[in-house]
Amino acid sequence: MQYNSFILPANTIYMCGHSLGPLTKSAKMQMEQGVKEWEEEGVLSWNKASWIDLPMQLGRKIAALIGAHADEVTVSDSTSVNLFKVVQSALALNPQRKIILTEADNFPANLYIAQGIAHSNTAITVSATEQFFENMSKDVAVLLLTQVNYRTGKMHDMALITEYAHSLGIVVVWDLSHSVGIVPVDLGGCNVDFAVGCTYKYLNGGPGAPSFVYINRRHYDSACSPIYGWMGHRTPFAFQDTYVADSGASKYLGGTPYVLGLKALEGALSLFSELDLGEVRKQCLINAEMLIDCLRKWVSEVLCLSPELPELRGGHIALEHNAAYFISRALIDEGLICDYRHPNIIRFCVNPLYLSPEDMVQGALLLGQIVRKKIYLQDKYQQTLKVT
Ligand SMILES: Cc1ncc(COP(=O)(O)O)c(C=O)c1O
Repeated sequence: MQYNSFILPANTIYMCGHSLGPLTKSAKMQMEQGVKEWEEEGVLSWNKASWIDLPMQLGRKIAALIGAHADEVTVSDSTSVNLFKVVQSALALNPQRKIILTEADNFPANLYIAQGIAHSNTAITVSATEQFFENMSKDVAVLLLTQVNYRTGKMHDMALITEYAHSLGIVVVWDLSHSVGIVPVDLGGCNVDFAVGCTYKYLNGGPGAPSFVYINRRHYDSACSPIYGWMGHRTPFAFQDTYVADSGASKYLGGTPYVLGLKALEGALSLFSELDLGEVRKQCLINAEMLIDCLRKWVSEVLCLSPELPELRGGHIALEHNAAYFISRALIDEGLICDYRHPNIIRFCVNPLYLSPEDMVQGALLLGQIVRKKIYLQDKYQQTLKVT
């Protein structure tokens, strides 16, 4: 669809955008522009090149992709740090209640952040369960969920869950890391309270790109960030002794923005202003169907964990096999870049922006070969690398 916009690793099928989206020409260009601004104008670029405005400017662009108002989103810090901020904010909105409810298979960063909050405030408890829906009650302060599961790629019904949680007075936080840029998101339509998400997956912002944070306008007066960052101060350059929070999402800013990371993200996001996300979704489901079909026909040795219903699928397909890690290593050696998640899952991204239905066929054929010829049993695949 947008194949010309990407610079993919040579001679590969890049099926790993659920982990790290590939480089775009525009991200590379904007990053180089940032370096040039630094080189030619130094510190003056904070004003001359409007570096200082990047977090809110990029927040506006992301807001357009997730059904949010322009001022409800900003970009800073990592997703983990933003999770900490919004979960603390959400707890403070429900001070009589002490339970953070989450799902057992949530991304570990979400579980750890919740556990850390409970560790520093022993009144708070974390309940992580597969039956989170049944466990919602008027005792729960915050519901913390990830829209698309990092392992199975299964998507939750955001509208239904948020509405039910609200009927019980629960404040709802969604992690959009595996949904933004690849599946439809309507935070405003679902009346979501808070959200966060990675920008280095389907937004292609680059390794470790800063994350985004969303706060619903109706909480502007009542919610505040637990980190009184000076960039979130109403007048940071007045250098006042006392913290006064800015209005809107900007109060969730921490310290000095990471400009080079933001420049790359700025370039990557320029792609999305020309895109019809509905069309991306349509093509993504065509790719997914094609891959699943080929696997069913040719590779019965792996079990597809992705939902049967296409509308519940995210941007990657999950495959189960006892030797999943070794198989993923062999696939990479053969030029198919995918990844592995504990304990036995191989993930194949199906993003149509840089993957075609022919790539799906090719991917299934390669996997079939590796499994049938047992290439993954070779010695060189038997050690686990630091990053999987
Ligand atoms: C669903 C989800 N949430 C949170 C994170 C953590 O993001 P970060 O490492 O940028 O804090 C990830 C990372 O992959 C993720 O997949």
